Amino acid sequence: MAAKEKILETQLLTRRFGSFVAVNEVSFIVHRGDVFGLIGPNGAGKTTTIKMLTTLLPPTSGTATVAGFDVAHHPASVRRSIGYVPQLLSADGSLTGYENMLVFAKLYDIPARERAARIHDSFEFMGLSDVRDKLVRTYSGGMIRRLEIAQAVLHNPPILFLDEPTVGLDPVARQSVWKQIKLLARNGTTIILTTHYMEEAESLCTRIVIMHKGKMVANGSPGELKKSVGGNGSTLDDVFAFYSKDTLESGGGYRETSRVRRTARRLS
Ligand SMILES: Nc1ncnc2c1ncn2[C@@H]1O[C@H](COP(=O)(O)OP(=O)(O)OP(=O)(O)O)[C@@H](O)[C@H]1O
Ligand SMILES: [Mg+2]
Repeated sequence: MAAKEKILETQLLTRRFGSFVAVNEVSFIVHRGDVFGLIGPNGAGKTTTIKMLTTLLPPTSGTATVAGFDVAHHPASVRRSIGYVPQLLSADGSLTGYENMLVFAKLYDIPARERAARIHDSFEFMGLSDVRDKLVRTYSGGMIRRLEIAQAVLHNPPILFLDEPTVGLDPVARQSVWKQIKLLARNGTTIILTTHYMEEAESLCTRIVIMHKGKMVANGSPGELKKSVGGNGSTLDDVFAFYSKDTLESGGGYRETSRVRRTARRLS
C-alpha cells in the first residue's frame, strides 16, 4: 500500500490566554483524504485549535503546518489552501443564497467571468438550486449549513474546516449535511471537523482526536478508540465518557448551554 500523504501536522501546538492554557502541547497528523474529528467536552480547546490552524489566532508556542505551509510564517498560503465554516453562523439572512455566494466568490478572487458558472455548479452540488434566489432567512437550518459549506469550498480548497457543522439541526437536516460532507470527502477534500455528536463522528470520521482541558487524550480510528476502552460492544459514547469522565458530572454549565441554544435558535 502506498504511504499516505501528510497534509496537516501540529507539533506541541500551544495557546495560552494569560495564564490559562487553552491548548496544551497538542501533536497530531492528518493525511490527505481523512475526515478528521476533534472531539471533547465544552472548553476542551477544539475551536481554539481550529482557529490556530486557520491562521485566525497565532500559537503561543509549537508549530502547525497546513497543506505544507507553516501557519505562523506563511499565513496567506495557508488561507488560500483552506475553507472554513465557523462555529457561529456566517451566512447573511438579509441576502439571497446567490448573493451570499457572490460575496465569497469575490473574497476568493474567482475571476468575474467564472463566477456565475462556479456558483451554479456549487448550488447543484449542495442541492440548493431551487432556493438560490430566496432570502437566506427563509432557509431551514440544514439549508443554511449547506450554503455555508458551499461558500467555504467555492475556491476548491484541498482542506475544509467545519466547527460543529450540525449543532442545533434536526435529524433530517443533519443527515443532509452529512451527505454533503461525505460527497466532498469522496471528491478528495480533506475534512477537519469538531462535533459533540458521537453518531456524527461514527458516521463521518476516519480518524479522531479527543481533547480534554486543552490536552490531547486519545488519537486513533473509531475502531482503535473503541478497542482502547474495552473493545467488543464499546461505542463512541463509551469512548467519550471514558476520556472526559470528570467533566460529565458538571453537565456543561450556563455559558455552554446558552451558546448552543443561541446557535440552535438561529438555525431553526
Ligand atoms: N479569547 C479568549 N480569551 C480567554 N479565554 C478563551 C478565549 N477563547 C477561548 N478561551 C477559553 O479557552 C478554553 C477553550 O475554548 P474553546 O472555545 O477552544 O473550547 P471548545 O472545545 O471549542 O468548546 P465548545 O465545545 O464549547 O465549543 C475555554 O475555557 C475558553 O473559555
Ligand atoms: Mg468550540
